[in-house]
Amino acid sequence: MLAQTRLVARPAVNLLKPARVAFSSTWAHVQQGPPDPILGVTEAFKADKNPNKMNLGVGAYRDDQGKPFVLASVRKAESKIHESALDKEYIPITGIAEYNKLAAQLAYGEQSAPLKNNQIVTAQSLSGTGALRLGGAFLQRWYEGTGGKTIYLPTPSWGNHGAIFRDAGLKVAQYKYFDKNTNGLDFDGLRQDLKSIPDESIVLLHACAHNPTGVDPTQEQWKELSEIVKSKNHLAFFDMAYQGFASGDASRDAFALRYFIEQGHRVLLAQSFAKNMGLYGERAGLFSIITADSEETKRVDSQVKILIRPMYSSPPFSGARIVKEVLSDAELKAEWLKEVKFMADRIITMRERLRGGLEQLGSQHNWSHITSQIGMFCFTGLKPEQVDKLKSDYSVYLTRDGRISVAGIKSGNVDYLAKAIHEVTK
Ligand SMILES: Cc1ncc(COP(=O)(O)O)c(C=O)c1O
Repeated sequence: MLAQTRLVARPAVNLLKPARVAFSSTWAHVQQGPPDPILGVTEAFKADKNPNKMNLGVGAYRDDQGKPFVLASVRKAESKIHESALDKEYIPITGIAEYNKLAAQLAYGEQSAPLKNNQIVTAQSLSGTGALRLGGAFLQRWYEGTGGKTIYLPTPSWGNHGAIFRDAGLKVAQYKYFDKNTNGLDFDGLRQDLKSIPDESIVLLHACAHNPTGVDPTQEQWKELSEIVKSKNHLAFFDMAYQGFASGDASRDAFALRYFIEQGHRVLLAQSFAKNMGLYGERAGLFSIITADSEETKRVDSQVKILIRPMYSSPPFSGARIVKEVLSDAELKAEWLKEVKFMADRIITMRERLRGGLEQLGSQHNWSHITSQIGMFCFTGLKPEQVDKLKSDYSVYLTRDGRISVAGIKSGNVDYLAKAIHEVTK
């Protein structure tokens, strides 16, 4: 009896436990990828216990207390949107038409001829990155220039550019841009490269506040570049992620783009409201293409829609609604433009104080590039070993290419930073 009971209580095969069959994992071959260099800096920063630590890696504006900054104009726009209790229906494939129009006007100027003549195709995008990716996909599918499906990027360029265009199926090549000896523009190299690459090449241009170097061509240099691009029949793809952040004046920062348009270039443009409206996580951007005429606009527009539909159907509306509210209300727009200037001015002041601090400490190096460079980033010229020492000895975090986000410096620690840089560069 006893033996029988035992048999019932403990069956030979436990039906509740899955049988052990030797499955190999479907993803066993997937290799560990390297961490994102900028996010890696942030992780290391978070783990540091030093109260004086500084994170100069991330490209996001901080106020003078080092806190994320939400613009007052944006808060007001959000309240207005909240009060109007809008529905949550899908928006069109290429986004909210009014938003697209206002964003394009901000970039190209309200009086821009292609805008008035319906020579523009616009698509609300997942911020600047999404606009670049959509542009890459459009070029991959439709560009037939003799230069081929290769996009030329400046050396160096924003770290994500190469991956965005490669993943979109384009080849990526480079042109000269930055001169390590002067920490300024290698204009001769740039000119030469744009002349020597094949005719009808696709050239990516940072419209202003070049990331990571903070070095922009002067207006005269842009004019010459426009001539070269025209004589070679290149296709310019502008990336404008920092309109207003360079000089504090959104129109002035659009000079290169608007000049190219005046000269008859039919450009592509990726716009972002991440930095200039502080809408990082809202992912509000715009992709646009200038066309030959309204008939071409129709055809190109249809193909942009055909690209978007299987990718993400239609864009999200929250960020675009905020931008639309700010840009369509004269008072809010004026307030926003002041806030952009305020942010740009704080960055300019930090540049001056950092350079001044280094000079006061008696540094023998030439630090004039700290103030001649423009926008959120400064390419300090610090070597990777000096960057490592800044981290280990001073808890100052930045990418190993020596780029610092000036927006991450505060009045309260700019002298600390000057001293740290002075010590590691002695
Ligand atoms: C040069 C450049 N282009 C585009 C972007 C895109 O940013 P987002 O996708 O956040 O708009 C950035 C962001 O850092 C950038 O620096």
